Amino acid sequence: MKKMLIAGNWKMNMTPSESINLVQSIIDGTKDKKISCDILVCPPFTSIDSVSRTVKGTNILYGAQNCHFESKGAYTGEISIPMLKELGCKYIIIGHSERRTYFFENDELINKKVKAVLGAGINLILCIGETLREREENRTFEVLKRQIEIGLNRVQPEQCIQIVIAYEPVWAIGTGISAEPEQIQEVHSFIKTELVRVLGKRASSIIVLYGGSVTDENAKSILELEDVHGGLIGGASLKTDIFLSIVDTAISILEK
Ligand code: 13P
Repeated sequence: MKKMLIAGNWKMNMTPSESINLVQSIIDGTKDKKISCDILVCPPFTSIDSVSRTVKGTNILYGAQNCHFESKGAYTGEISIPMLKELGCKYIIIGHSERRTYFFENDELINKKVKAVLGAGINLILCIGETLREREENRTFEVLKRQIEIGLNRVQPEQCIQIVIAYEPVWAIGTGISAEPEQIQEVHSFIKTELVRVLGKRASSIIVLYGGSVTDENAKSILELEDVHGGLIGGASLKTDIFLSIVDTAISILEK
């Protein structure tokens, strides 16, 4: 049976009190439904504690958007994995394109974080994706191959169950221009093949999410693709009605 994860990446939005309101509205909107997909929210660090208290006793999962690879030390302004683990985070997003672009995270640094997250027993959402220029130069597959090979270097095959990949074409993030379903299916199929090549056959169970301008309007055409197992939703995850509508779409696809 198909598994599906609908994850909200709230990015640098929502104060702690705003976060409580947002997650409470997601709880209210899902509590009377049979939810067959996983729902995850990734608020900013400062809201994780408030969100954790609000979702207690519900099926809503929560996670973080980044972490440092060291467990403690003199790294002013950074947040470690044990700190997130103690708050109950089930997932950590690593290698988002905004971190790669604005904070100069390269594949080697991302690999350090990947190994630290997996070593701590936390689930990982590793983001990969090409820029517009790389796509126009026909380098999409070369870039994704490099991001997978280096990002997952020295990951153990038994850690595959902790890994989720998010394919987020950089040109589709926050632009309102999602990739076309054919482009998404083609890339997801390639990613799945690469994962098995790099990590062995256990990697065939790794789910691949799509992210980049997912809305309630295009969710069906994306989520019903064979190799798409959910979405990493940015802007639309901040609007309860739209986020819940995407969740409903995932549920109706799973019920087919
Ligand atoms: P948007 O959904 O706003 O395009 O953002 C996608 C994203 O970056 C999720 O991580």
